[in-house]
Amino acid sequence: MTDKIGVAILAAGLGKRMGVEIAKPLIPLMGAKLVDYSIDAASSFASSANLEVQFGIVVGHQKEAVETHVKAKHTAHKTSFPVQKEQKGTADALRSYFDGCDWAKETKYTMVLCADTPLITSKELEELWSELKNKNLSAVAASFETKNPYGYGRIVRAEKGFAIIEEKDATDAQRKITEVNSGLYIFETELILNRLKNIDSNNNSGEFYLTDAFEPSGNVSPVCFSSEIPFLGVNSPVQLSTALHQLKLRTNEEHQARGVLILDRAHTYIEPSVSLDAGVTIYPNTFLHGNTEIKAGSLIEPGCILKDSKISSQVTIKAYSYLENAEVQSQCAVGPYARLRPGTKLGEQCKVGNFVEIKKADLDKKVSVSHLSYVGDAEIGENVNIGCGFITCNYDGESKHLTKIGKNSFIGSDTQMIAPVEVGESAFVASGSTINQDVPSQGFALSRARQVTKEKMASRFLKGKWAIEKKS
Ligand code: UD1
Ligand code: MG
Repeated sequence: MTDKIGVAILAAGLGKRMGVEIAKPLIPLMGAKLVDYSIDAASSFASSANLEVQFGIVVGHQKEAVETHVKAKHTAHKTSFPVQKEQKGTADALRSYFDGCDWAKETKYTMVLCADTPLITSKELEELWSELKNKNLSAVAASFETKNPYGYGRIVRAEKGFAIIEEKDATDAQRKITEVNSGLYIFETELILNRLKNIDSNNNSGEFYLTDAFEPSGNVSPVCFSSEIPFLGVNSPVQLSTALHQLKLRTNEEHQARGVLILDRAHTYIEPSVSLDAGVTIYPNTFLHGNTEIKAGSLIEPGCILKDSKISSQVTIKAYSYLENAEVQSQCAVGPYARLRPGTKLGEQCKVGNFVEIKKADLDKKVSVSHLSYVGDAEIGENVNIGCGFITCNYDGESKHLTKIGKNSFIGSDTQMIAPVEVGESAFVASGSTINQDVPSQGFALSRARQVTKEKMASRFLKGKWAIEKKS
């Protein structure tokens, strides 16, 4: 039978030092919210350790918003939202967890995580868990060595167990200790329930400290990690940017280890949700967001922004292009300075050039739109060539209308198509035309005023420095 672990995520804090209105657990970080990282780490740990898991997110400040977000995003788990009415300390928060989650007392183990430590991964949780199991301990706390222990609870090791002394309560000698408490724990539920009964607020902060659950004589141990990076807490905007930087480097290094060629990993922003094949090349100052996927052999030049877009193999996205909810099939070339808006689909070997905007349009393979055009609400057949300065006039102020162009047609430069309108296959539309009537397959359409040329008449119009000097 699989054991059951309850995960208490302490998320009731005000997060005053962040200086923003938004509740700290909901602060955005690389496409997710702070609280999501703790939930994901615990959830992937539980499945790798073969444990049945249930979550209790202890909420307080902006509790409805935190609950709404977690319910919408983490649908795979049973989650409760116990409320801590007053911020009376971390032990009080855990009491609220047990009081508010009717299932929590029945679990065999209780893991405690904070909502503001987004760099913790399942790896650290697995290591902590192995120590607890292998050494038959009743509780473990993750600790680390730091040059600057200020503000952290110090780990005071005893012969058997250990104690955690908070900064405000520490003696001068204890303040010199450089092994500190990360705030991440696993307890046998029975032990922590017993300990919580006795924790008081008799200390310099007047708070109920969860750290008092550890006793020098107990069957408990700190587990000292070699790097402090995974435990970085986000309490201020500076720490938020440090967390972002570290998460970015870690994500990029993982991709590099699999064979993704990221030229400058410090200046490439790839959200953890993005999927990249080995053999993809990413130039600097590129931003890849959300559910973007890029297949092998594709190249993303500098300064591109891709959101929720699917890029097939051997595609080049040239510099400074912006793609959102777009699908690009293999061997296409897009940009520089192209904008693919939601609903754009490019078939194989399409060419979309500079200053081209495409929206909700399906371009079949080998379509070329090379310069300065707007293609919106359109279906373009295979092998169509669209000249420079083409515009679909898709909006009449009320509704959007469709433009259709059949395969193998040639559309001259500076043409406008007033939708709804349809051009057949192998048709030719002459440059400078405004098309407001359908053109049949193999038809030729021309719609522009006939040119008038008057010899020597320019002098009537050219003034100032352009004036043509009269010969005397
Ligand atoms: C805590 C630890 C300290 C450790 C540090 C690591 C205690 C007493 N101290 O201190 O040993 O080194 O974390 O970062 O636990 N929270 C609530 N309700 C409360 C109080 C806090 O939900 O009443 C939540 C906060 O939102 C936060 C977490 O608990 O997510 C930690 O609280 P915080 O006040 O940041 O504790 P520290 O002073 O940092
Ligand atoms: Mg803290």
